Order: sequence, then C-alpha cells, then structure tokens
Amino acid sequence: MARIFSGIKPTGSVHLGNLLGALRNWVAMQSEHSAVYCVVDLHALTVPHDPDELRKATLSLSQMLIAVGIDPEQSTLFVQSHLHEHAECAWAMECTAAVGELRRMTQFKDKSDSSDFVSGGLFTYPALQTADILLYDTDQVPVGEDQRQHIELARDIAMRFNSRFGQTFVVPEAVIPATGARVMDLQHPENKMSKSEAGGQGTILLLDDPATIEKKFKRAVTDSETEIRFDPDTKPGVSNLLSILGAVTGQEPAAAASGLNRYGDLKAATAEAVIELLGPIQACYQELTADPAETSRLMTLGANKARTVASATMDRVRTNLGLLQR
Ligand code: TYM
Repeated sequence: MARIFSGIKPTGSVHLGNLLGALRNWVAMQSEHSAVYCVVDLHALTVPHDPDELRKATLSLSQMLIAVGIDPEQSTLFVQSHLHEHAECAWAMECTAAVGELRRMTQFKDKSDSSDFVSGGLFTYPALQTADILLYDTDQVPVGEDQRQHIELARDIAMRFNSRFGQTFVVPEAVIPATGARVMDLQHPENKMSKSEAGGQGTILLLDDPATIEKKFKRAVTDSETEIRFDPDTKPGVSNLLSILGAVTGQEPAAAASGLNRYGDLKAATAEAVIELLGPIQACYQELTADPAETSRLMTLGANKARTVASATMDRVRTNLGLLQR
C-alpha cells in the first residue's frame, strides 16, 4: 500500500484553495493508502506569530481537518511539534541541502521580499518540509501547485542523502489535482488565494457563512467583455470562477461554462456550488468545537501512530550518518 504524507500550516483560516488544491485529495486518498496528515505548527514559527493565536489555530485546524473528512482512526493525523523527530531530521536535511538550492525557492523569495524580519527558519523551511515527508517513507504527497518546487527539492535531497550515506529514504512524488490546483484570489486573480491576502474579500474561508460567500462571489473581479470562456491568460477572473465551479462540480473548467450566459449567472452558480460543498463541513466543525478534549485525544492517538514510523526512520538516519549509538 502506497504511503501518503501531507501537511498544512496553522496560520490564518483554512480557505477554498486549501480545500480544492489539497484537502479534498487527502480525503479521497485515505481509504486506499496508508495516509499520514500533519498540522505543521513548527512551520508557523518561521514568521512572527502570537503564541495564543497559534495554540488556538492548531486546535481549530485539527478540527477542520476532521470536519472535511479526514478519519483520525483510519489515517494518522497529528501535530508536528508533538514529535521531536521532525526538528531532528530537519537538521540532517539542512546539512544535505545546498544554500543555492534553498535560495532558489520561490516561496522564500516571495515571503522574504514582503517582510521586515526574515528568520533563518524561513530560509531553511523547505528542509523541515523535506524532513516531514521523508520521515514517513512517503511515496506520494498530495499538494496544490504552489508546493511543487518544495516537493522537487525533497526528492533531490532524498536522492543525494541516499547516494552519500546508503539507502535511507523513499523518494517521494507530488500528486497535484487536475482542477483546483491553483485557486486564485477573487479580487486579484493574478495572485493565488491565500490566508494572508489583506482584507480577505478575495478569499473564501471554509467558515464563511452563505451570505458572505455570495457577496464575495458577486464582487469577484471579471473583465469588460461578456463572454464566459476558459482562458486564464486573457480572462483570469472568469477562468478562476470556472475552475472553482469545475473543481466543485467535478467537471473540466471549460465544460462548467455550458448553459451559463452572463457573468452574474456564473457567479451565482459558483457561489451556490461552494455553499453546498461547505454546509456539511461547517456543521461537522461546529460539533467538534463543542468537545476540544476529544480532539486532543485523537491528536495524541495520531502522534503515537506517527512516532512508530518516524522514530524507526530516525534510527536509520542516525546510523547511516555515523552518529554514535546511544
Ligand atoms: P499551506 O498550509 O500553505 O497550504 C496547505 C495546502 O493547500 C494548498 N494550497 C492551495 N491549493 C490551491 N490553490 C490555492 N490557492 C492554495 N493555497 C494553498 C497547498 O499547496 C498545500 O498543499 N509548506 C506547506 C505545508 C507543509 C507540507 C509539508 C506540505 C509542511 N510540510 C510536507 C506537504 C508535505 C504549506 O505551507 O502549505
């Protein structure tokens, strides 16, 4: 059975891009694979953060992952900082990665260009992400398009480590969905939808109520034409709506245009499909928030399952690196 691993950061609120680009695949893949999913709180430390907010966001994101359909009994669902193996393996990965490789990461360039304070952790972030993946003998990593470069780096580091120190890691590959891999911001369709986009009018949060979702779609930026056509280069706003509608209704973006004649109809149809998708998720999330102790129990269960695999990998890493036995 192939092993799946993926992670999501507890920064900001979960949005439609996370769901369509990654989380839906996490849910779909868990029944046929051995799946390990992680709330990567150590990654959230790479940018300035508020400790209370991080604690709340980590619990809330864990509940949201269960609400979207991750089964914590079937899959392994855990919080990254609950296992010291991640930070430990990350050091070995930092020592295997080249500075030049880390410097080429576009996410680092984007984030460091827009910040006053750039931590060392932000620079070595992809080495920690590599550790996350390689600790679980991962074959496949379901992610959105923006993570492709990080997964490529994880592959390169795994192969380099194996060739220097002997067979240690499985070389993983990215699994990126055909539609929804890059959901764009509704106000700025040239940028990806993100947790941090100022104002948030272009981001659909999974916890937005139906009226807010309708309003955000109604105000979505389109263009001065009237034709509904999938053409991301010349019609980014309309194409983004078609991609969202297609991803939610299980069609190709171009096919999602059929029967729709006006931009207003496209926006209304997309809003309706998204509201329908999110309704059951929101109801389940509300139930879970009533019992945080149960979520903590499930996350402890997940950490214990994850530790069995991660500690065996770390034993192999230590031996192959030549670290003296304890
Ligand atoms: P994060 O927390 O930014 O996003 C979680 C997942 O959501 C996807 N995603 C999107 N997909 C489509 N359209 C969008 N607008 C959009 N925005 C986000 C991301 O591609 C991701 O799959 N570095 C990772 C977290 C991570 C990780 C890992 C992932 C840490 N360790 C190991 C995989 C394996 C990140 O910041 O994801």
